Amino acid sequence: MHTRDRLVVWMAIGLVALSAFWALREPPASKPTASHSASPTLTPETIPLVTGDEPTVDIFARTGCAVCHVIPGIPGAIGRVGPPLVLGTTGIERLNDPTYHGNAESVHDYIVESVLEPQQFVVRGYPEHTMPSWYGSKLSALALEKIAAYLERQTEAELSP
Ligand code: HEC
Repeated sequence: MHTRDRLVVWMAIGLVALSAFWALREPPASKPTASHSASPTLTPETIPLVTGDEPTVDIFARTGCAVCHVIPGIPGAIGRVGPPLVLGTTGIERLNDPTYHGNAESVHDYIVESVLEPQQFVVRGYPEHTMPSWYGSKLSALALEKIAAYLERQTEAELSP
């Protein structure tokens, strides 16, 4: 073989090797990060599993409820995205609302329903599709019980002006 031909062959091999190397080092295309959550920082991935053994204050803090809701007695729960969670006052109003078509028959059940299926009833004056709909996968039955038991006791009177 001619020296020049040999050079061409080696260059061709080099090119193939180089392109193979580039193809392999390219990471696989990242999957689209579609999120239906209104808050970009609050996704199921960022919320730890809550068993219910945690103190009630921690349950509200860890799950992010405090980011969007005012909750009496919970430090830092000053969110204004959703309504103040004073279901001891507002719960009965929701159940009696003619536009309420959910399945709850008690305030307790209404709270559980609101957390598991927020689309069932959207409180007037607040945005829909904003309250995350994935809490069912992050809260144990015990944690949900504690949340409902706490919130049904909170009343408007406990809100500081
Ligand atoms: C990203 C903001 C956001 C987060 C986080 C959030 N909520 Fe909400 N929530 C809302 C909005 C907005 C509404 C009102 C619209 C609706 O009814 O879906 C609402 C409604 C509710 C209601 C019905 C209140 C009423 O007056 O009828 C309850 C109960 C509730 N949320 C509980 C919770 C609990 C418990 C958590 C945490 C486990 C939580 N929310 C986390 C935004 C949020």
